[in-house]
Amino acid sequence: MSLHPEAQDRNARLSAISPTVLEALSPLGKRSFFPKGIPFQSGQAKDCRINATIGQITDGSGNPIPLAPIAEKLTSLPTKDVFLYTPIQGREQSRAAWHKKLTEEDARMASVGLGQVTAGICHAISMGADLFFSDGDTIVLPDLYWDNYDQIFNIRLNGKMVTYPFYREDGGFNYDGLKHALASVKGKVHTILNFPSNPTGFSPTHEDMSKIAEVVIEAARDRIVVAFCDDAYHGLVYEKTAATKSLFFELIEKHPNLVPLKCDGITKEIAFFGGRVAFLHFGVSKEVSDILVDKCKGLIRAGIGGTVSISQVLLETELADPRHTAEVERVRLILEDRYLALKQALSKPSRHWSVLPFNGGCFCLLKLRDGIDAEALRQKLIKDESVGIVSQGQKHIRLAFCSMRKEDIFPLIEALERACS
Ligand SMILES: Cc1ncc(COP(=O)(O)O)c(C=O)c1O
Repeated sequence: MSLHPEAQDRNARLSAISPTVLEALSPLGKRSFFPKGIPFQSGQAKDCRINATIGQITDGSGNPIPLAPIAEKLTSLPTKDVFLYTPIQGREQSRAAWHKKLTEEDARMASVGLGQVTAGICHAISMGADLFFSDGDTIVLPDLYWDNYDQIFNIRLNGKMVTYPFYREDGGFNYDGLKHALASVKGKVHTILNFPSNPTGFSPTHEDMSKIAEVVIEAARDRIVVAFCDDAYHGLVYEKTAATKSLFFELIEKHPNLVPLKCDGITKEIAFFGGRVAFLHFGVSKEVSDILVDKCKGLIRAGIGGTVSISQVLLETELADPRHTAEVERVRLILEDRYLALKQALSKPSRHWSVLPFNGGCFCLLKLRDGIDAEALRQKLIKDESVGIVSQGQKHIRLAFCSMRKEDIFPLIEALERACS
């Protein structure tokens, strides 16, 4: 199939400034481009005297004609911004506000272009994978990972998953395992790193985070490495020793063969789960990033069509509010309180499980003794104890302390003991 001339144009531009990023693209990534279709033409005409471009119902002067029951609920929000379509890359205000937040976290972010707005973090990962992951490619990841990666990389994109043990013997993050797993894959390779992690609730130390970065950069010395940083649980850390900064910052423009992707958003960071706003940033030069965002816009048009205006407006409102930092901290402290209660409840040794190291995020993981099947235990807990937990493979169970009352934590562990016995 011959490439559309527009795609050829984007690829030629990439080839001139970063041939390895062009080479890293999947066939779909190579085909993608933002077409000069309706959203493009409408954008060009936005300041025209008469705008007869886009199929959104307005009063003819660019204002929506909202229906009263919805409008009455949203009187404090800017009607036009909330009811009308948003640019395909997302609202400039949202993209700039999130970028500013990231630059305040780490100044190295200043060299990175504005990201693409996505419909949640899962969508950011999936869109990054659409751009770079070819049929049959391999992704390297720790053996304890968010189960949805199976859907994204294996089921949807027919990828191979190569795993390594998450923890070292001393309980730290196993960056040597990552190194060996990367070395075991010849040619282009992908990796995904998620800290604090789902399902382990673990974030490495600051020193180990630098080691992980070294391993990833070293792996890119002689072949292409696409590194997904899934920062869904950013900020939720409860121990001084645990790194709070994203690995992504360590990877920005560190090697021409390395394509770092940052996937993050409002879901957990600002506790707006139903808002479905996240960001995909590329840790490459701004020029290259802009072309990749253009390709993302093509993928958005081919998929969800556009992103959600109202949630972006609400995100901007939240970030601009002087109470924002204190509010984020308020939520973190609620979780920290539960985290400490869970640590205490689990401090009494049990012959039925061992507790895997955790210091952040929303979860902890218990490894069950031989003879207890995680799925059977999960079902028994529902039936006999009216307790819901998640089984992770055959040997582990995941406890989500983020969604429990503090006073239910001891009863949960007691119920677990009973069911295991
Ligand atoms: C590790 C990880 N990444 C990504 C996501 C997806 O977040 P979102 O709900 O924004 O798609 C989750 C959600 O549970 C997650 O645990």
